[in-house]
Amino acid sequence: MKWELIDRYAKSLIKEAGQQIRHSFSSHIHIDSKSNANDLVTNIDREIEQFFISRIKTDFPEHKILGEEGFGDDIKTLSGIIWMLDPIDGTMNFVHQKRNFSISLGIYQDGIGILGYIYDVVHDELYYAKKGEGAYLNDERLPQLKTTPLNESIIGVNARWIAPNRYIDHEKTAALVMACRGTRSYGSAAMELAYVASGRLNAYISMRLSPWDIAGGMVIAQEVGAIASNLKGEPNALLGQESFMIASPGLHQDILKNYIRVKPECVDLN
Ligand code: IPD
Ligand code: CA
Ligand code: CA
Repeated sequence: MKWELIDRYAKSLIKEAGQQIRHSFSSHIHIDSKSNANDLVTNIDREIEQFFISRIKTDFPEHKILGEEGFGDDIKTLSGIIWMLDPIDGTMNFVHQKRNFSISLGIYQDGIGILGYIYDVVHDELYYAKKGEGAYLNDERLPQLKTTPLNESIIGVNARWIAPNRYIDHEKTAALVMACRGTRSYGSAAMELAYVASGRLNAYISMRLSPWDIAGGMVIAQEVGAIASNLKGEPNALLGQESFMIASPGLHQDILKNYIRVKPECVDLN
């Protein structure tokens, strides 16, 4: 019963937040940058995170919150119930395009993902899952993923990884791009996870994601049989930034084994 209540509550918060974001399109949005000039944040990212936190702290005071904008708790371990929230995943798209961004939320108990949500605010598409009970897009249950051969697969990957870089062998990535059916890069990691879970993409690769980018999507993906790991093939720890890959079964192993080579001299890629 407890989780059903939390699930209903989380969905209604997400829908309310989505409405606030849609309303913000007609207001003045204040834009700042964070770690570099292209790492954007707006007053809306901050306001939406504060909206979630004030509600959760009132109604579930014993739960902890890990939020990208830093208004939540200082999380050092995964014990207890933790809400992992990205109020707007794809802020650059939110600012420049007013589409292709999402609200990303995963609710974990002692490190195990119980509830996951990715809300494509503009298209009013809510992807969600409860551990062991299947994944849904709005009211439609998502089918189990089937293996797709690489030459019939669409891969979500950023073009920068086929250029020389310090993390992975770019020639291997270029071979992947040539071997698959096509590539896409949407600019919202959470949405790209949702696309893998719903079969719109067959794999997605990123060098560095944070727990709030992947927490919701991992619960959803697990329910349809997608395989997720870091680029060393290890499970993601959800306690810091890590490389990330998710794919349909079979394809995950093929890409990891034959098309990803982490540079031995690269020490900062987990
Ligand atoms: C970013 C987006 C982007 C991914 C970055 C993330 P933000 O999140 O998900 O697609 O490539 O690594 O940081 O900053 O827009 O929430
Ligand atoms: Ca994000
Ligand atoms: Ca964000």
